[in-house]
Amino acid sequence: MNLRATPQTPTFRGWAVQQPRVRDLACRPYGRFLDYNGAVAYAPPERSDLAPLPGSMPEPFAIAIDGPAASGKTSVGRRTAELLGFRFLDTGWMYRAAAWAALRGRAALGDEDGLIALAEGLAFDFVLCGGEHRVLVDGADVTDRLKDRVVAGASSAIAAVSGVRRVLVARQRAIARQGPIVMVGRDIGTVVLADAPVKVYLTASVEVRAARRHREFRAAGNPVSYCQVVSDLMRRDKMDSERDDSPLRPAGGAIHVGTDGVSVDELAQKIAGVAARAGWKS
Ligand code: DC
Repeated sequence: MNLRATPQTPTFRGWAVQQPRVRDLACRPYGRFLDYNGAVAYAPPERSDLAPLPGSMPEPFAIAIDGPAASGKTSVGRRTAELLGFRFLDTGWMYRAAAWAALRGRAALGDEDGLIALAEGLAFDFVLCGGEHRVLVDGADVTDRLKDRVVAGASSAIAAVSGVRRVLVARQRAIARQGPIVMVGRDIGTVVLADAPVKVYLTASVEVRAARRHREFRAAGNPVSYCQVVSDLMRRDKMDSERDDSPLRPAGGAIHVGTDGVSVDELAQKIAGVAARAGWKS
């Protein structure tokens, strides 16, 4: 892949297209990222006929939000993205999807090479469907299954495998290159988008986080007890912050925002204000 922009080179959203097969890409049931208008904005690694034009792609504006489990990242990130008209990506979905696929027998949890191959082979679609963000893996909507407690637990173990992180981080960066985005996770400000102009680290007390998660589980018909949720959270916090590769920690320059008792709207407005001060113009 050695594309150069020439007057003859067809382009698509800042990507050079060796053969203009954009429609083909749009019709394929995997490897796409659908933005708010339902347009294709993600070129998967296997599409070697797409490459960034040298020097033509300024880094799109990005808001990196990190924080421990149930600190409010998804709700606040999603609302911030809506306010600003950005795309939204919860990177935890990718680790959960890998865990879900592994638990279905596609790789053993202790088999690093198998897990890496599994992560490489997963085809993600992130779609906005009736105002709701849904995750498609290999064409199937698995959003609800990714919320399962067992999947969540396995995802923390899988997230500690460096090879899996390498694969998923590359995909996350590719998505961020396609336009302004709010991306949430554990290592977004420290690793994935280390140059993001806005970095936020969300915190919340264990009690508030556990109460949030407990409500979500009960709403989904999962009879887990509050005490189990607390112990799950503490175990996951420990795994996420003590692993060797990309442990959870605030990025340098991140603003720290406590979410206890503050509304999602208020938090999103605050982050949008930070983005405006960092140079974002709607
Ligand atoms: O945010 P979550 O609970 O959906 O994340 C699932 C797991 O993946 C959790 O253990 C943290 C991990 N993760 C990560 O290590 N890096 C990310 N960028 C996102 C999630």
